[in-house]
Amino acid sequence: MDRLATTFTGLNFVNPFILASAPPTESKRKILRAFEAGWGGVVTKTIGLHPVENVAGPKTIYQRASDIKPYVSRMKRKDTVSHSSWNWELISDQPLDIWLPDLEEIKTTYPDRIVIASIMAGAGNNEEMENWRKLASACIDVGCDAIELNMSCPHMDRKDMGANIANDEEIIRSILKAVTGVVSVPIWVKLTPSTAKLVDAAGAAYESGASSISLCNTFPSLPLMDPETMKFEVEVDGLVTSGGLGGLAILHQALQRVSDISKAFPDRAISGIGGIRGFREAFNFIVHGAGNLQVCTAAMEEKGSGGVGVDLIKELKHDLNDYLERKEYSSIEEIRGLARERIVEHSKVRRKSGNYNGGYSLAS
Ligand SMILES: Cc1cc2nc3c(=O)[nH]c(=O)nc-3n(C[C@H](O)[C@H](O)[C@H](O)COP(=O)(O)O)c2cc1C
Repeated sequence: MDRLATTFTGLNFVNPFILASAPPTESKRKILRAFEAGWGGVVTKTIGLHPVENVAGPKTIYQRASDIKPYVSRMKRKDTVSHSSWNWELISDQPLDIWLPDLEEIKTTYPDRIVIASIMAGAGNNEEMENWRKLASACIDVGCDAIELNMSCPHMDRKDMGANIANDEEIIRSILKAVTGVVSVPIWVKLTPSTAKLVDAAGAAYESGASSISLCNTFPSLPLMDPETMKFEVEVDGLVTSGGLGGLAILHQALQRVSDISKAFPDRAISGIGGIRGFREAFNFIVHGAGNLQVCTAAMEEKGSGGVGVDLIKELKHDLNDYLERKEYSSIEEIRGLARERIVEHSKVRRKSGNYNGGYSLAS
């Protein structure tokens, strides 16, 4: 029995683990290597039409934690464990016309793997809506299986792009309307965790034709400053800006957001992202309702595999299969969402005296 196979948003995955939109999926070479290693799919590094130039310094740092001071730092020290990635990398700097033949070749070489094109444009006028349409149609014409709309990039100055639009239900609806008007494949929408209106944003996306919400992108955050040198651990000419935190440090926060969406829309699909390093993290996303799992930082950190997680995917597949077999589950669908009803309001959790009513004054 093939316990790892899943159908998610109508697409057949050989296993539920896919590489998230990021450096592991930034080129044909890396994606082919990832598929050779066994990943079930990839979301490409986000493709856009506007020119991109990254900062003149490192784009990503890996922060590690240890018992010894300093506790969390990118500094190389003995006996540390991974804590997080921090990045301020923009979307792909490879133009669409280079991407298209590459995507076609990837799909022809690995027809059984799922290729989701991540795309991003602006909002608020017809020209930008046309950019979304153009990107989506071009990627689907060369064989991509689905589209992921990037509404969550945390480092855009433009107010009509990335995470800046994820609070605006009207914009979310208008982009989905534009894209669903030209392609008829599943549309995934990647949202930012950095909004108090996440459930409303997800609702607007589902209502407007999104097949799934991908969650989370990185959390807006700052790198640390070294008290001795007064330098940030990553900076250019002494300056830094808000970037994105990924990896283990965001796991619990990502799970909470997945749970919020899963409780609000129990019948809708969610692709879980944020801090997956092994089976246990993946398991947690599944029981909160995710039917697909995306991985970025842990793959990037793996040494010797060109940053695509060659050993990681083997381990993830092995450990998930082993668990499903031992527990006699036929697929992840049998455990998906199992934790949903056990996440309740604070006052619903038993008190010793039975007296607490949620902080409201007791009726006299
Ligand atoms: C260096 C870097 C670049 C990224 N670029 C993109 C991107 O272009 N588009 C996107 O949707 N997400 C991007 N992400 C976010 C990841 O896809 C993912 O959502 C995030 O890192 C959380 O997953 P993780 O904890 O497994 O790293 C990037 C992340 C990193 C670390």
